[in-house]
Amino acid sequence: MSLLRTKPVEQSIRDTEEPGHRLKRDLTATDLVVFGVGVVIGTGIFVLTGRVARDYAGPGVAFSFAFAAIACALAALCYAEFASTVPVAGSAYTFSYATFGEFPAWIIGWDLILELALAAAVVAVGWSGYAQSLLTTMGIPLPDNLAGEDAVFNLPAVFVVLVVTVVLVLGIKISSRFNEIVVAIKVAVILLVIVAGLFFVRAENYTPFIPPSQENPATEGLKAPLIQVLFGVPPVSFGWLGIFAAVAVVFFAYIGFDIVASAAEESRRPQRDLPIGIIGSLAVCTVLYVAVSLVVVGMQNYSRLSQDAPLADAFKAVGQSWAATLISVGAIAGLTTVVLILLLGQSRVFFAMSRDGLLPQWLSAVHPRFRTPYRTTILVGVVVAVLAGLIPLSELAELVNIGTLFAFVLVSIGVVVLRRTRPDLPRSFRTPFVPVVPILSVLACLFVMLNLPVETWLRFAGWLVLGAVLYFAYGYRNSRLAAPKAPAPGD
Ligand code: ALA
Repeated sequence: MSLLRTKPVEQSIRDTEEPGHRLKRDLTATDLVVFGVGVVIGTGIFVLTGRVARDYAGPGVAFSFAFAAIACALAALCYAEFASTVPVAGSAYTFSYATFGEFPAWIIGWDLILELALAAAVVAVGWSGYAQSLLTTMGIPLPDNLAGEDAVFNLPAVFVVLVVTVVLVLGIKISSRFNEIVVAIKVAVILLVIVAGLFFVRAENYTPFIPPSQENPATEGLKAPLIQVLFGVPPVSFGWLGIFAAVAVVFFAYIGFDIVASAAEESRRPQRDLPIGIIGSLAVCTVLYVAVSLVVVGMQNYSRLSQDAPLADAFKAVGQSWAATLISVGAIAGLTTVVLILLLGQSRVFFAMSRDGLLPQWLSAVHPRFRTPYRTTILVGVVVAVLAGLIPLSELAELVNIGTLFAFVLVSIGVVVLRRTRPDLPRSFRTPFVPVVPILSVLACLFVMLNLPVETWLRFAGWLVLGAVLYFAYGYRNSRLAAPKAPAPGD
């Protein structure tokens, strides 16, 4: 049963006070909302909107964004309760340790690598695409083997990851200030798209709003959504099935609101501010996404939207190149903060896992001067830089989605379990209508997962098996719960 040994919530909270492992409590509720918006608005809206409208959903992509937001909102209500109950770095990992036990917690920690490190690499590659397009506009393009999807060594992607890593090592407050400025630019650009774009919307682009479904040979075999295979439906695009397949892709655009929970130990009043940060940032992004997608499909016929830079190119198509350039600058700034916060979240999860002994404990030392978990930050930065530099990752975005949805499912179940096992814990935010909301959250997330391609499920299964092997090879024996008296380094 030691596989299911749990770490009491009180012990998790006590660990945050351990000398040598204590992070600096500096963030306010506003910082957290800005943080959330900083990580959420990124590749999803700047890139995927166009691809998804063109290939799966047509103008109905606005529905896809709205449906994805419903699944996220249900999960956010669960995340808010757990973050206010267990305000400790490590997000879903820490929560699962308190709720389900060590092995499930390890699996979730392992799964979060997909949501955080892999997503950071995917977004860094997207950043590189925008940087390349801006450099080209300025007349100094990089050679094809050094930038873009087909690069042998993706120089801009490596550059952005390493710069952001340095910012993170220097300290959370610097990262947060940096984030605020960039988030302001990003939101201004999104508002520009909405307001300026409205002048170019043409009603005929909205008909048909949901194009009739049609068979799509490009999504056959392993590329077909699992649900279509299970129900024996030939692979289709458009229609309502297309809108749901699109939900599974645009879900990527919402990833990140949950990462606010990983800043728990750096927040001044976590019990009150984390729920505000999580739900607030999700609400802001939902409104912006639905508005942007409606405007963009109104500006240009969905079948002509561009693959790589749909927002900028929709403005080019109506002869407004100035706006296109501004949007590219905003996208570059915006994607930078996404990479920043994804890396921040990943380094905090590794920090928590290492503090618990499931990863080598020397990793969780905090920098004596900057008070940041610099070792996990540097490790994550280097690995992500190598990944982003060498591997074309756009296909793996769906793997990011399945990993994140899996974490949402477990957190939602965890809220119900912890209410039963530890009804006594103070919960400053309580998920409404338990167990109805958590159950709906699980069902909504599973439904979105089922709309992902078969090959994504296979890759995900492979990743979890690898994680299980590593746990038995290392974490099982080195866990601090296995030897509770063992002192942490720095004690
Ligand atoms: N939600 C983030 C993005 O869209 C990961 O880039």
